Amino acid sequence: MKLTILFENHAGYKKGLIGYHGFSALIEHRGRKILVDTGTDGNVLLHNMKSLGISPEEIDALFITHGHYDHTGGLKAFLEAREEGIDIYAHTGIFQRRAALKPKWREIGIPFTREELEALGAQFHLSTEPTELLPGFISSGEIERRHWDRAVGYLVRDGEITKDSVKDDMALIVDLGDGIAVITGCGHSGILNIAEHAVRLTGKPVKALIGGFHLRGAKATLLKETADGLRSLGVGKLYAGHCTGIDEYAYLKTHLKNVEPLHVGKVIEL
Ligand SMILES: [Fe+2]
Ligand SMILES: [Fe+2]
Repeated sequence: MKLTILFENHAGYKKGLIGYHGFSALIEHRGRKILVDTGTDGNVLLHNMKSLGISPEEIDALFITHGHYDHTGGLKAFLEAREEGIDIYAHTGIFQRRAALKPKWREIGIPFTREELEALGAQFHLSTEPTELLPGFISSGEIERRHWDRAVGYLVRDGEITKDSVKDDMALIVDLGDGIAVITGCGHSGILNIAEHAVRLTGKPVKALIGGFHLRGAKATLLKETADGLRSLGVGKLYAGHCTGIDEYAYLKTHLKNVEPLHVGKVIEL
């Protein structure tokens, strides 16, 4: 498996790449290419792809981790940049209307309608169940939450707002034969829940946990539980970025072996 970070909060070390709040990664495995998420802004996504020598045309399918703007904002520009349509895999709940209330009201859901994306060639395959999208690429399905989660924001429905548990948060699991790589967008289901769910689903150890761990602002007890839990699960390597948080990243780096940060252009080969 080869994974390349295309969109991330940090610009990294190559000239010309743009760091921007959001997440997107390209995964190449068994001859196929899946794009996980599309970042916040299509211009930034396409710029970084071009700089890294990756064409939108070469992507075989898209996996959307959840329906927040910082993972889906690049969808429209990505579809417009392709001649052909593309299969998009995600949870059934991604198109719900969502908002954050602090510091002020703002929409945080997918900034496009399903219909306008379908008109541009999107073919949605929405499911809550675990599914093998392409050989060796498995959607986690809805993630069982046995520990704390990291839900944020509110759902807006019929003029009413309710807390959003971000049930649509899923991970992409890559089967490496003797283990798995788990790619998470924001980690709203709770990074421990995600890692344990992936192990239960596949019966294989996590060689690498990659993406946003959503620990920003987490209490010390939660950070300790995260480090202890991931250690006892035997997770081989952590690649933490996006919404992990700088202080929280430092905590993981101090308390666990094998922790690396993410940045645009970073390549992970397993
Ligand atoms: Fe995010
Ligand atoms: Fe999110």
